Amino acid sequence: MDKTKYRRALIKILIIIGIGILSQQGIQNQENDPSLSLSERFEYWKTKYGVVYKDVAEQKKHFQIFKHNVAYIDYFNAAGNKPYKLAINRFVDKPIEDSDDGFERTTTTTPTTTFKYENVTDIPATVDWRKRGAVTPIKNQGKCGSCWAFSAVAAIEGIQKITSGNLVSLSEQQLVDCDRSGRTKGCDNGNMINAFKFILENGGIATEANYPYKRVVKGTCKKVSHKVQIKSYEEVPSNSEDSLLKAVANQPVSVGIDMRGMFKFYSSGIFTGECGTKPNHALTIVGYGTSKDGIKYWLVKNSWSKRWGEKGYIRIKRDIDAKEGLCGIAMKPSYPIINNIE
Ligand SMILES: *[C@@H]1O[C@H](CO)[C@@H](O)[C@H](O)[C@H]1NC(C)=O
Repeated sequence: MDKTKYRRALIKILIIIGIGILSQQGIQNQENDPSLSLSERFEYWKTKYGVVYKDVAEQKKHFQIFKHNVAYIDYFNAAGNKPYKLAINRFVDKPIEDSDDGFERTTTTTPTTTFKYENVTDIPATVDWRKRGAVTPIKNQGKCGSCWAFSAVAAIEGIQKITSGNLVSLSEQQLVDCDRSGRTKGCDNGNMINAFKFILENGGIATEANYPYKRVVKGTCKKVSHKVQIKSYEEVPSNSEDSLLKAVANQPVSVGIDMRGMFKFYSSGIFTGECGTKPNHALTIVGYGTSKDGIKYWLVKNSWSKRWGEKGYIRIKRDIDAKEGLCGIAMKPSYPIINNIE
């Protein structure tokens, strides 16, 4: 092929790729386009998330909820008076009150452990554990109420990288399948402290590669070798964002938050509520900082895929007046301790 032909072919290919990207973005956002009719947006949304209803009645029922939630989301975004935006996502056909994601809240506030970061004074203005390579890519818990396992695992992945230099993705499915203590209940519920207890008793946790996530069901426990063992775990003193800051300055930290309200539809910016203080979802704080507008935030990793929030993350307002923290984020944080390198 001579040079001009080659160039022409190359340009053609680039144009085709360009059109491909543009049309894909078009498809990705049409459900959020207020200029389209609600039924059109519903169709785009169903296609995007692969939603199929079992019959017409079922579809009708969910379309009603869809319309109700979309009206609120459009209204909220048009008002534009909060530092965050909402978007239509996979939760939009369910009532907003439907918000249990498998986190078993503990109501005690007295920590049962010491707090090794108690006297920490070296607290940087900004921390982002992703930039230090201590955070694995965003995962997706799917329809299983296993947020507790994702929260615990992300905290272990973080401290493992910080102490050993290796970032290894670890197995949530092993926690879901294998804990027979009765403290955690697979896809039904659990909490991070009980996940840490299980890993201690189990002799460690396997890698994601060795024990992959199945997304829907609690399976039979498989025997596999364990990659990472923790030494213990600690709780951050309850209801103290100052203590939480000391911990996050040193490692990613598991937290529960109350996701009732608009949390589910968060898409970008700094979330400022409304939300309650009865945590029902677990996530992992992987940093903190202050926005250009001067709003302090926690940088939090979620397990609802990259399509949710800021590529899978949410920034939640930090240092608020209530001692529980926004959505109860400071009520019962915990983190694993590792000091042996395999
Ligand atoms: C923090 O400092 C106090 C006072 O010196 C000391 O009693 C306590 O043990 C220290 N805590 C930790 C975790 O080192």
